[in-house]
Parts: sequence; C-alpha cells; structure tokens
Amino acid sequence: MNYFVIGDPVEHSVSPQIHNTIFEYYDSPEKYEKVHVKKDDIKVLVEKFRQEGRGFNITVPHKSNIIPYLDGISEEARLVNAVNTVVKKSGLLMGYNTDIEGFAMQVSHAGCRLQGARVKIIGAGGAARAIAYSAFKHGARIITIYNRTISKAEDITNMLSVANIEETTNCQLYAKVLSDFDAGFCDILVNATSVGLGKGHEEEMPIESLEGILPHTVLFDIIYEPSQTRLMREAVKYGNRTCNGLDMLIYQGVIANDIWCGFGAAKNQELIAEIRRKLLVRKVLL
Ligand code: ATR
Repeated sequence: MNYFVIGDPVEHSVSPQIHNTIFEYYDSPEKYEKVHVKKDDIKVLVEKFRQEGRGFNITVPHKSNIIPYLDGISEEARLVNAVNTVVKKSGLLMGYNTDIEGFAMQVSHAGCRLQGARVKIIGAGGAARAIAYSAFKHGARIITIYNRTISKAEDITNMLSVANIEETTNCQLYAKVLSDFDAGFCDILVNATSVGLGKGHEEEMPIESLEGILPHTVLFDIIYEPSQTRLMREAVKYGNRTCNGLDMLIYQGVIANDIWCGFGAAKNQELIAEIRRKLLVRKVLL
C-alpha cells in the first residue's frame, strides 16, 4: 500500500483513475488504491503508513482530522486548516493542500486571470476556504464570500487578513450573508457549496438567480457530477461561460503526484488531456 486515498465514504473517489493513469504514463509499477477509513481509525492508518507507505491523499471528511497525526504541514495548509496530500520526507510525514493550486490552475486553463480579478464565492466550507486562499494568493483585487451562516464567511476573511502574502496587500475582503447575494460586479464567480450534487438534488441552486451577472463573468462550479449543474445552466442562459469542478480535481491530483514522484505531471498537457478523457469515458460507462 504505497499510494492511496482515505475518506469516509471513499467509494466515489476518482483519484485512483487520476494517479494510475499518471503511473502508467510514466511506466511506473506503482498502484494507487482507495481506503475507507473512519475518523477513529486514522491514527492506526497513519502508523501503518509510517512503516510502509510513500504518499496518500485525504478526502472529505478527514482533511482537517488528519492534521494532528502529521509531523509538519505547509503554511498554506495550516491557514486553510486542510491537508489533502501527505508525503514521507526523511521519515517525516508532511502535509500539503494541493486544492489551492488546483483551483488556480483550473482558472488559468480556462483562460481567466485571478490577478486583479473581482471574485465572488458562494459557500464557506472547506472547499471555499481553499478557493478563497487561492484567489487571495494569486492577487485577486476583491474577494466576496457569501454564506448562509455569515460567521463562517467571516472566519475565511479573517484568515486571509492575517495571511502574509506579498502580492495581495491591496485585496479587499468582504463576508456577506447569502440572502444578500448579487451576481453583478465580478469577473469570477464560484459555487463552492455542494448544492446541486447527488441524485434527486440536480435541480437545486444555492442562490435564487444570477440576475445582473456581467457578460464576461465566468462561473466555476466545484461540482463535477452532474457535469452541468442547474446553476451552470442558468449561467449559460445568460450567455456566460461555465466550468465544472473536473479540472480542479485533475489539477489537485497531478500536483499531488508531483509532490510524491516528481514526474512533472502538472506541466504535461498531453497527460492531463488523457486523464480528462479517461474520467469522461468512465462517466459515460457508469
Ligand atoms: P465542504 O468541505 O465540501 O466545502 P462543508 O464544510 O460542509 O463542505 O460546507 C458546505 C457549504 O455549503 C457551507 O458553506 C454551507 O453553508 P452553511 O455554512 O451556512 O451551512 C453551504 N450549503 C450547504 N447547503 C446549502 C444550501 N442548501 N444553500 C446554501 N448553502 C448551502
């Protein structure tokens, strides 16, 4: 068990497809698996990993639960309070958050720029925290976080206001209650809630309407199944460009693999296209 992902549940994870495609591409004999782990069993798993593992990913709900068992975590992961990638370095377990750069790479791949952008984020959970940090780190000009529970949006703006990143000294940060949502005046709009995910919930949206959205605003939804959420369909009706969460998922994976193996997967567009193709084929087969 050298490489794997832990979660509860974990059955839905497509990380094995991502990493096994990378290993095959680089002719590596490694295999990547899914391991279902409950919170109380994380400690035992980590001890076993110390003996024989090389690297692992963490998915919901353990991205924060894993932190006490590690020897060190990156400053970004500490601020975001979430680790999704662990690597063994000189016998020590180090934690990273590759969702942060995964989001930035997705935005750049979509032909958008976070630098100087006005970014609105719907939701203030774990995913929103990493995305807000990413926007902040990459020089967004204004970040507004909307959430039903405003205190969670404020937690994120407070976290960013103490983050010490050079390019972002001029970023304006706002936390607002979701009922005050207004789709206007932004370049990048992100749905970082899970509203619209899962069977029977496809017709749900976290907000009532996208009225007032500017023509050039690009909507990013973190959901990738369904591949087009109702919110994305609404944006298309207004003529706006949309992206689902598949690319963010792929990018966080290739960055994690580079931390472990250093193949250069995150820069390999041919490989990234191959991973995307395999994930889309898998979906058609389901
Ligand atoms: P994750 O770690 O995947 O981001 P999470 O921490 O449970 O998941 O956060 C889910 C986010 O979706 C939260 O911002 C939540 O809002 P609250 O903090 O107010 O609960 C938001 N959310 C969940 N269901 C929602 C709904 N029906 N409408 C609007 N926001 C919703």
